[in-house]
Parts: sequence; C-alpha cells; structure tokens
Amino acid sequence: MEKELPYDLLVESLPAHVAFIMDGNGRWAKKRVLNRVMGHEKGVAAVRQVVESCRKFGIPYLTLYAFSTENWARPKREVDALMGLLTRFLRKERRQLMKNGVRLTAIGELHRLPDEVRDELSSVMEETKANSGLTLCLALSYGSRSEMVEMVRDIAEAVKKGEMDLSSVDEALVSKTLSTRDLPDPDLVIRTSGEMRLSNFLLWQCAYSEIFFTDTLWPDFSELEFASILKDFQGRERRFGKVLQP
Ligand code: FPP
Repeated sequence: MEKELPYDLLVESLPAHVAFIMDGNGRWAKKRVLNRVMGHEKGVAAVRQVVESCRKFGIPYLTLYAFSTENWARPKREVDALMGLLTRFLRKERRQLMKNGVRLTAIGELHRLPDEVRDELSSVMEETKANSGLTLCLALSYGSRSEMVEMVRDIAEAVKKGEMDLSSVDEALVSKTLSTRDLPDPDLVIRTSGEMRLSNFLLWQCAYSEIFFTDTLWPDFSELEFASILKDFQGRERRFGKVLQP
C-alpha cells in the first residue's frame, strides 16, 4: 500500500528537489525592533523545520541558499554572526542529521569560509555521507555566475590538454561539470519575503524549475505553508517547452 502523506499531498507528483532562497531575516528582526542577527537566529529554526518536513514528505533533495558570494559585502559583524550560526548549527544538528538519515553536502566557494565553518562542514559531510534519507545541500559563498566561470575553465583546460574534444561539449557535460553534478535539477524553487528574483542562484539548473514567491519572511515560514506550496506545485502542468497531448 502507498504511504499516505499529510496535507493531502500526492506521493506520485512530489518534487524530487526543492531549493529555497531564504530571504527576509533582516526585515523580520526590523519589524520587531531587534538586531538583524536575531532574524538569522530565528531563521535557523525555520531551516530545521523545513529539513524535517522534507523527511516527513519524502522529498529526497533540498538545497538552501544560506550565504551568497554577494553576502561577503555585508558588515563584518553580520558576516561573523552568520558564520558563527552556521558553525553552531553544524555542531548541534550533527546527531539529528544522523538520526534522520540526512546526508549533508555543500556547494559554493567553500575555500572562502572561515576554517571553523569549513572544518565542521567537512566533518559533518564525512560522517553523513552514507545516509540516504534526504540530501541537504547548503549553498555557501555560492554564486551561479562564479560557478559557471569555474565550469568553463575546467572544460577549456580539458580541451586544451587534449583530454576532451570540443565537439563533446554539450548540455550533459556542462551539468556534469557544475558543482551540482550529484543533484537533480530543482523541480521547485521557493523564495520568501516577496522579492521576485533569482539572485544568482542555480541559474543553469533552474531552466525548467517551477518558481514560487511568497511574501512570508523566512523566519515565519511554516510547514503548513510549505505543504500548500507543494499542493500548488502538484497542480501545475510542467511542459518543459513542449505541447502536451490532449
Ligand atoms: C537573507 O535574509 C538570509 C540570509 C542572507 C542568510 C540565511 C541564513 C540563515 C537562515 C541561517 C543560517 C543558515 C543555516 C543553513 C543554518 P536577509 O538578511 O537578506 O533579510 P532582509 O532582506 O530582510 O534584510
């Protein structure tokens, strides 16, 4: 018998990969006359919730845009606080990730992260690498354009060295050369806080993703809202540029 899902979700049309642009932590804090960092702290609780929901619904891939290449330009105090939050998140959640069968991966210019974050990240990635319940990918110091520049360099170098023929460069090779090579393309991208743009996030990979924008600020994002977005997704007709037969 097929597993029954909560919120009347349909098992057969669940997205395999959901990606979030978590936005609005600063505004959440400002509305409450709090420091921006408090918004990020509250945002961590929403992260935990969304990971749990993916496990509950049986969504196998989740990517979270946690820190963009552009975010380095924020005041040092805020960057340091975010890095501290990340380190603490990795330390605190390690056991829970193991218990729930979550495999942690990361994309982005990881070499730019402080040693503390990088060490914690690689150790959690190593410990969770055999888990198969959910792949949680953190986009950290990530920018799609910089990822693409890296991909072009890698392919050009292989061609220059004679390891590859120019004629074998195709879409599949590009996908395989990007840092997301182990993830399927996102079926659904959700951005919170009412901003309607992709902000340099997975630009190649989102070519056919369904995109959902919500006014909810990230710290207020709930499982109920996630389920209602998934319901909406399940009602959408995905044509991938084709005409569907009647
Ligand atoms: C955007 O809100 C959010 C970020 C730049 C950071 C997201 C980080 C977290 C949710 C916490 C740490 C992450 C993990 C994975 C543990 P904003 O600051 O741009 O908000 P604003 O647009 O309202 O100012």
